[in-house]
Amino acid sequence: SFYQNFIEKDRWQYLLTGLENTLLITIFAVLIGVAIGFLVAIIRASHDKNGSLKILNFICRVYLTVIRGTPTMIQLMITYYIIFASVNVSKIFVAVCAFGINSGAYVAEIVRSGIMSIDQGQFEAGRSLGFNYVQTMRLIILPQAFKNVLPALGNEMIVLLKETSISGYVGTMDLTKGGDIIRSTTYEAYLPLFGVAAIYLVIVMLMTAGVNRLERKLRTNER
Ligand code: ARG
Repeated sequence: SFYQNFIEKDRWQYLLTGLENTLLITIFAVLIGVAIGFLVAIIRASHDKNGSLKILNFICRVYLTVIRGTPTMIQLMITYYIIFASVNVSKIFVAVCAFGINSGAYVAEIVRSGIMSIDQGQFEAGRSLGFNYVQTMRLIILPQAFKNVLPALGNEMIVLLKETSISGYVGTMDLTKGGDIIRSTTYEAYLPLFGVAAIYLVIVMLMTAGVNRLERKLRTNER
């Protein structure tokens, strides 16, 4: 029968496709988020000292306020139903954009706190070497700040992975959606839902182990 067929073959396909899409969305959203986050943090940390950055600074502040002040779910739906409404792009791409732009705001605050944790003397050291603002940031401040915020960045990655579980609301076949399709087709809730939870848990544990390893590596390089 249809249900037996579904149970025996297709459910693995739903989980596998779902897992693949969840990982794809997370990886690319993290990359976009980190890129936006560092850029925004560098602009924000410049304050008003630099007059030409004043407008950029204002734009960044609006971005941070709006993204952190509205639910990710609404941002995802706006991205899908409004921004990409009349464009034929894949749902994965839509989700990557929504989650990347969303994560960028949180990464920016993490990186900014990292920049502020660096002693003012480090800025002065850079300037006395003849570096401009961007050079001082890139060569002196950010390498040290990155080490300090690595745990927070790792946490943001975990939050983002779990947050992608709302992608199903715009019809994206992610891991959560895959599990839910199995649940609704087989009328069996336990296995699909606990299974999906276990898969997320394993990914989170792998991510944590990876971040911890990188942290140890950066710390030994210090000495
Ligand atoms: N789920 C909450 C929201 O919709 C928190 C999102 C946090 N996202 C992040 N990338 N840190 O606003």
